[in-house]
Amino acid sequence: PLPEPYTVPLPIPSVLAPAGTSGGTDRYEITQRQATARILPGVPTTLWTYNGTYPGPTIESRRGRPVTVLHRNELPVPTVVHLHGGRTPAESDGYPTDLVLPEGWPDPASRRRRHGTAHMAHDPRAVTSRVTREYTYPLDQRAALLWYHDHRMDFTAPAIWRGLTGMHIVRDAVEDALDLPCGERELALMIADRAFAADGSLAYPALDPELRDRPGVTEPYAAGVLGDVIVVNGAPWPVHEVDAVRHRLRLVNASNARHYRLEAVTDDGRRLDLVQIGADQGLLAAPVTHTALPIAPSERYDVVVDFAGLRPGSRVRLRNRLGSGRTREVMAFRVTRAASDHSTIPKALCDDLPTWRRSQATAVRRFTFRAGQGQQGSGWYIDGKPFDPSRTDVRTRRGAVEVWRFTADVHHPVHIHQTGFRVLSRDGRAPLPYDAGLKDTVSLRPGETAEVILRFDGHRGRYLFHCHNAEHEDMGMMANLEIV
Ligand code: C2O
Ligand code: CU
Repeated sequence: PLPEPYTVPLPIPSVLAPAGTSGGTDRYEITQRQATARILPGVPTTLWTYNGTYPGPTIESRRGRPVTVLHRNELPVPTVVHLHGGRTPAESDGYPTDLVLPEGWPDPASRRRRHGTAHMAHDPRAVTSRVTREYTYPLDQRAALLWYHDHRMDFTAPAIWRGLTGMHIVRDAVEDALDLPCGERELALMIADRAFAADGSLAYPALDPELRDRPGVTEPYAAGVLGDVIVVNGAPWPVHEVDAVRHRLRLVNASNARHYRLEAVTDDGRRLDLVQIGADQGLLAAPVTHTALPIAPSERYDVVVDFAGLRPGSRVRLRNRLGSGRTREVMAFRVTRAASDHSTIPKALCDDLPTWRRSQATAVRRFTFRAGQGQQGSGWYIDGKPFDPSRTDVRTRRGAVEVWRFTADVHHPVHIHQTGFRVLSRDGRAPLPYDAGLKDTVSLRPGETAEVILRFDGHRGRYLFHCHNAEHEDMGMMANLEIV
């Protein structure tokens, strides 16, 4: 029962109101619970949600104004929340073993004794909590579109698939000073793919459909789970009415494994420019114009599209050149009327981008991201090893500038927690036009070696870096980063 593309209106996730404010900190509350939504016509879909919706509510914050989010886990399994792209103290970063256990769930140590399962890695540093946990986000960072999602050890991919994702927008004075499209002309768009069974339930090839004990997916899906329905803000191939003016589209690819190459095409075949103004970690120094934009899982692109000159009634489709059939379609904009536009895209957007130089680096580290064989069969490994919470893979000093060199076998979007980076090179050559700005995910292409440069200028503690193909991540492609 799939809908005709471009008939369902685009949902705009609600902005969460703080439950309270004290001493300059906004306090939010989110309940993680099962909910039923109508995603496809005529059939209900059961989801795991933040506050009952998919995506969860959007949080809007100001740079430097701290926020706490009290999460309450009413789901049948443990959960962990990670604010992707946040410069967050380690105890609030959502380390995969810092579980929030639901009511009645045995504590992990006794569970390990009972099941004796090897995959339930023992982590002496884990700090679990029962039912609720308060996460603290200082948000002392550049304005950017962040997103939050589940990060539970071994089960991140199916938890995201079931709906545990939401957006978090950080704003600041640098951005306010620009006349970028705003209000209804700024749209945060969470793009993902899903597969559904005939009864409307989400289809996911988990080895344990309850997601309780046994992680992993059936063999044919080991490279990553793809769906045949593209959802934007939770609706299949939605359509949105726009004035014939500039719009700011804040894109996040929240798919488990699907890559897109997006283009905006009018019904008479004209391609509109995608003028990129920001990357994962906020504004670029200057706009970069693309005609098509690749976006890997967890990457964000901030682009301006100008609908000026399009006649009322005309339609612009956001299409995916990497798709086929229905997965070629993403969403559409229906132009309703001409209107005045006071927005501009300045030639210089900001001047606070870090410009670390290779000569400043005190270390060059190399990592390979490849399929591997381990005791539990095949998996996806960094440097030939599956993730182990009790091992420190990288130990570095706060303040250090380093060059990290990643080599891939197949596509791997590599994400580093806590610290933004700049792409230095790809296969020894200059970065691509899509690599501009401050990033937290770099999309490695098959066989490629990419270098990034970063400075560990945030918090100290234990963090992660990993592939953001969520199935790869669950199958071992993750490592520990200790900042001391
Ligand atoms: Cu989107 Cu480890 O995170
Ligand atoms: Cu990967």
